[in-house]
Amino acid sequence: MFNLKFVDSKQDSCMDVVFLIQDEELSRVYQGLDEKSGGLIRKTIADKNIFKAKYGAKKTLTYVDNDKTHHILLVGLGDAKGLSGYKIENIGGGIYMSANCSQIKNLFIDCNYHPKEFDKAEFAALIASGINLRSYRFDKYRTTLKEEDRSKLEKIYVGVSDVKATEKRFIDLEALVTGIFLARNLISEPANVLYPESYAEIIAEELEVLGVGVNILGESEMRDLGMGALLGVGQGSARESKLVVMEYYGADDKDAKPLAFVGKGVTFDTGGISIKPSASMWEMKYDMSGSAAVVGLIKALAIRKASVNVIGVVGLVENMPGGNAQRPGDVVKTMSGKTAEVLDTDAEGRLVLADALWYAQDKFKPEIMVNLATLTGAIVVALGSTYAGCFSNNDNLSEKLVNAGTKVDEKLWRMPLHEDYEAMIKSDIADIANLGNVRGSAGSSTAAHFLQHFVNEVPWAHLDIAGVANDKKGSNLAPKGAVGFGIRLLNQFIQDYYETN
Ligand code: BES
Ligand code: MN
Ligand code: ZN
Repeated sequence: MFNLKFVDSKQDSCMDVVFLIQDEELSRVYQGLDEKSGGLIRKTIADKNIFKAKYGAKKTLTYVDNDKTHHILLVGLGDAKGLSGYKIENIGGGIYMSANCSQIKNLFIDCNYHPKEFDKAEFAALIASGINLRSYRFDKYRTTLKEEDRSKLEKIYVGVSDVKATEKRFIDLEALVTGIFLARNLISEPANVLYPESYAEIIAEELEVLGVGVNILGESEMRDLGMGALLGVGQGSARESKLVVMEYYGADDKDAKPLAFVGKGVTFDTGGISIKPSASMWEMKYDMSGSAAVVGLIKALAIRKASVNVIGVVGLVENMPGGNAQRPGDVVKTMSGKTAEVLDTDAEGRLVLADALWYAQDKFKPEIMVNLATLTGAIVVALGSTYAGCFSNNDNLSEKLVNAGTKVDEKLWRMPLHEDYEAMIKSDIADIANLGNVRGSAGSSTAAHFLQHFVNEVPWAHLDIAGVANDKKGSNLAPKGAVGFGIRLLNQFIQDYYETN
């Protein structure tokens, strides 16, 4: 978490942020700063060609006072009516990026000027949350970080008249960031360090202290439960497969039906015997992003004491070739009793989820069930990195998820289930096949249909996050790499539709 502080008075700083809203004058809040800089702000914004207060526009001004160089960062908020929570967070993240590249030590952001549409404490807390999200780094394996590559930014002060109210609002946002950082750390870890057993231990360590029940099932327990599909995927690996079950009871009624979240946790996906080409194969360390979102979500909920009952189930396996690996054409028996023909060992995620979904539904009888998985390359072809795919057997659930996603800018696009896709996963010798029988055709939908076999009456949604889990460019809310996609979305979903207070 970044070293930031809410303050109710001006602090000494190398850089000051000045917010500007389209068609509004320079606020009196910044008058002192303007005078100190010899009217630099007024003179600059007088010419609309130099700085328009467009949303996200930024300009750095420099002046010298008492032989010391100072910077002013003009930040446009655009037409404030179009602002929303995530847009304000994005502004915060953008400010962090500018300050970070300016090589300055400390920054003061006066939020006492803010869009009228937003409560001041809310605005300041969202700015700070955006800073936190963007400040994430994964540096644990760098031993030779050069001095000039190190961030100089030490402290950010967020000026706001009601510090107490802002800090109060900030608590929940900080909980969310903590969950997201945990997910990003897990996702960023290389697969020689993060494998099912080490991953399961981290989950227990991170969540048990928060009062979350964590139960780790090993291969013998899973064999007793009949989880032949999940075990088949892991059988080529030297690492033991694990199923981790997390139980968080935050609702007033501890017996109220829980929400269930299920995640694909393939700690590395080589493809198995149907091995993947070597180019970019390293990216398959990200193939546990769905499970990391579940873990991060539960961490955030537990920290902010969300009033809801939630179950998390993650299937942790490593998909490797080897003398004991499963072969294309093998038939496995799932916990549900259905058999599956493994026509392609690289379509492993659906096999892992088949048993994890069935287990979650059978054991906990959830109110709803949502799974997250980097399941198919085909969803990347369809939606790129703009939307995650949402497949659901329930319009109401799907609509809630899409709405929550729009609110936090983790966008979902509803994708179709159809009996034609169902027909494509018929097997010649088993109940279903793990591969569609028409090459290059509707690969994400046939995968979703495979999953649906392991879901009964419960409202269920499958989020295919293969295109959005790893951001190859970086954004205002995350550096390039692991995003932690799904945590802000599901947190919002729970808050808007399931929390009782
Ligand atoms: N983990 C991959 C899907 C994936 C692809 C995630 C690209 C992130 C980026 C999944 O296990 C997989 O290999 N899917 C195959 C399925 C195919 C064999 C039916 C695919 O999409 O090619
Ligand atoms: Mn695969
Ligand atoms: Zn995979």
